Amino acid sequence: MSIFIRNIGELTTNDPSIGDGTVMGRLHNAAIMISEGRVVWVGNNDTELEADEYIDAEGAAVIPGFVDSHTHLVFCGERSDEFETRMAGKRYDGGGIMRTVDATRAASREVLNHETSLRAEELRASGVTTMEIKSGYALNVQGEQRLLEIAASFSDEVTFLGAHVVPQEFVVNREAYIALVIGEMLNNAKSIAKWADVFCDNGAFSVDEARRILSAAREAGLGLRLHGNQFGEGGAVALAVEMDCASVDHCTYVSDNDLKLLASSNTVATLLPGAEFSTKSPYPSGRRFLDAGVTVALATDCNPGTSYVTSMPLVVALAVREMNMTVDEALWAATAGGAAALRRSDIGTLSLGARGDLVILNAPRAAHLAYRPGGNVVRTVLRSAR
Ligand code: NIG
Ligand code: FE
Repeated sequence: MSIFIRNIGELTTNDPSIGDGTVMGRLHNAAIMISEGRVVWVGNNDTELEADEYIDAEGAAVIPGFVDSHTHLVFCGERSDEFETRMAGKRYDGGGIMRTVDATRAASREVLNHETSLRAEELRASGVTTMEIKSGYALNVQGEQRLLEIAASFSDEVTFLGAHVVPQEFVVNREAYIALVIGEMLNNAKSIAKWADVFCDNGAFSVDEARRILSAAREAGLGLRLHGNQFGEGGAVALAVEMDCASVDHCTYVSDNDLKLLASSNTVATLLPGAEFSTKSPYPSGRRFLDAGVTVALATDCNPGTSYVTSMPLVVALAVREMNMTVDEALWAATAGGAAALRRSDIGTLSLGARGDLVILNAPRAAHLAYRPGGNVVRTVLRSAR
């Protein structure tokens, strides 16, 4: 099966060897051929090629599909009341997580699956062609397994987050909970999940606890990621670099030394402006990360507590408006940056051989993603079959 997309006004490939020679790999008046789910040709619109199907982009911009490398999609219930108190000045401290755990534990598999599918559909409609999905709202053995199974029915990028917080029933004995996470829970998770994550911050897990959990996860064959520095400059970034985590996520507060460590590592900084928006926290300066030479990804962090956001264009717009990133930097971070955060080279670009995951915009230039916030900027989402 081949699809030839013609009349592309502005094509962003994220491949510097294509087009204008910049990291955005940009061409104008372009066309692209997808065959058997892969990019097989990129070039000038004047070239006529045979295909099974033709799409006329009518001068619109085309970009690689968004890679949302950080979501907590599998949950039940909502916490808009907490959002309202935060807008009135209350600080977010992670305290509401157990409300979602209670609602999620109480839900049937059918309901949980249905609600997850609605959010996955919203993400896809916003142009997301790859989404990472975490567990973390059951925090018991059977429940975490159920969340991972549901996540795996929507994505190959599944993350075990048993170490989200210590659940109520274990607060008097957190060691016993950590033993459960690195024991039975991890043992169940390792055949379903690709990644393990830990919330390493005040009120969640300490750096030493996170190191133990990540070490056990690595031993079990999982790749590593970390939630860190959402509440302050702790040691999470240094730990993520030490453990060669694929990414350290949030990074709302970072020191110059954190940036230096990140710049000389393979760990991506995943910034989540939906969380700053929804918690009224200060936005981190994306500019500071980029100027320090750090690889930056942007993701939604979709969850009911800190970022009930299912729109990558909104995330791009926030990064441009509030985090001093250019439109191109934000677009790159939301596509190729997300792919780097998942250590994937087959997505996030439209290089020859990459997956044919792309978005045709309702706009002549990709800049409209930030220029028309809240607008209907996504026209067609093409996603190669997995
Ligand atoms: O990434 N910070 C930790 N976990 C989520 C929020 C969880 C919640 O409040 O439900 C996050 O922001
Ligand atoms: Fe998160």
